[in-house]
Amino acid sequence: MTEEMDIMAGSYCIVTYGCQMNEHDSEIMAGLLEDRGYSRIEAEQGADIVIFNTCTVRDGAEHRALSRAQAISAAKLRSDDSIVIVSGCVAQDQGTALLERLPQIDMVIGTRDYVRLPELIERYRVDGERIVAVEDIAKPLAVDTIPVRRNKLRAFTNIMYGCNNRCTFCIVPKTRGEEWSRPIGDIVEEVKRLVNDGTREVTVLGQNVNSYMTEKREDFADLLYALNEIDGLWRIRYTTSNPKSCRDRHINVVADCEKVMENLHLPVQSGDDRVLRVMKRAYNTKRYRYIVDLFRERNPLHSLTTDIIVGFPSETREEFDNTLNLVKEMRYDSAFMFMYSPRAGTPAAEMPNDVSLAEKKARLKELIDLQEEISIQKNQEEIGRTHEILVEGPARKSPGHLQGRTRTDKMVVFQGQDRLVGQTAKVEITGGSGHSLLGKVLTRESEVVQSTA
Ligand code: SAH
Ligand code: F3S
Repeated sequence: MTEEMDIMAGSYCIVTYGCQMNEHDSEIMAGLLEDRGYSRIEAEQGADIVIFNTCTVRDGAEHRALSRAQAISAAKLRSDDSIVIVSGCVAQDQGTALLERLPQIDMVIGTRDYVRLPELIERYRVDGERIVAVEDIAKPLAVDTIPVRRNKLRAFTNIMYGCNNRCTFCIVPKTRGEEWSRPIGDIVEEVKRLVNDGTREVTVLGQNVNSYMTEKREDFADLLYALNEIDGLWRIRYTTSNPKSCRDRHINVVADCEKVMENLHLPVQSGDDRVLRVMKRAYNTKRYRYIVDLFRERNPLHSLTTDIIVGFPSETREEFDNTLNLVKEMRYDSAFMFMYSPRAGTPAAEMPNDVSLAEKKARLKELIDLQEEISIQKNQEEIGRTHEILVEGPARKSPGHLQGRTRTDKMVVFQGQDRLVGQTAKVEITGGSGHSLLGKVLTRESEVVQSTA
């Protein structure tokens, strides 16, 4: 053990809120800590380092994270020299104010400074001064560790940081800074390393992957073509696509590359052109339909998912009806649906929040009910279809069964032998609820081992 590890080693616990990008940031922080000899424990109480990696995209998410951080940092729950850290988007957004709001936390670390985590911990250990590190929001992020991924079979990787769009409701540009795309070579190298380690499916992450653009002017399609060439990698997923930046070339690459999966997450936010304009989404429903039509035409077996906000400032009942109508027309496989939540510092927060809470709740319920009905119908339509699934392991809710996802990102539960885990298998869908599908394996024993493994 080195002297540094001697001083620093201990246990850590990271609690993650919010999106996949936050999940991946947590994997990177875990890598940085484990490089220095820390070991993970699951309980917040009793860990030497406790990190709350927070989300501020909606008020509810922020509230959940901060209440937990406050509870844990309260003296009675802390072992004497434990360090409580708040990282992520709330940290970046609030900075020093957060130290005042939560008097018992020790550190506030922003969305780019977290790569300095070990150095900041060391500094705190030496001088005991509470730390706020939220300065470097404009800086490209260079990560010097191998993230600790709990799921080896399916891994996430960041292809870009930040967002240059200015959707009026969204706090992300403020908390994640300017957009910056990692070079293709770096991403390919990282994915090759993952594949050597057993990864078969990679999900590339960005706030708006379709605007990926390197300094050498390589775009998202170039990246997908490069990843598609990696031996031993079977599946590539990507999220999130903003309709604004979705080009025909990006849609075509999905159909052209065998390894790129046929699911498109295309947040529409509203089905009304005036509301979309006020949201500054920079597309209209006509353009949205065009992208969806092209995607569907090129991928006969596909799924389409979305995000929708109800009760945006000034949204009328008729405009909300346009959202319902678009949802009926699109027939999404599933959707994330939210009540509008004003975020301080965004342009929409300056607009009158004039749809009452009761009305927002009613609209959300109506939308969820509609989408639930469509999801169930669509899953019923799957019965009798054959899908290729990547078998992940035991089914979480059905003992004695396995689970895996289709190329279209739907979860299938089925009976099969354990040796299928980590392999792809053909299944026929035999039943479906709103949230998952049941299937039976068609793959014969002799076909189980993949030649690419
Ligand atoms: N670029 C990312 C956006 C991250 S925010 C993406 O497209 O996924 C994820 C979702 O949260 C958004 O698509 C939006 O539907 C929702 N959201 C963002 N800000 C919100 C707000 N102020 N109120 C309610 N929902 C919001
Ligand atoms: Fe937010 Fe719009 Fe960017 S939703 S993350 S500003 S694309």
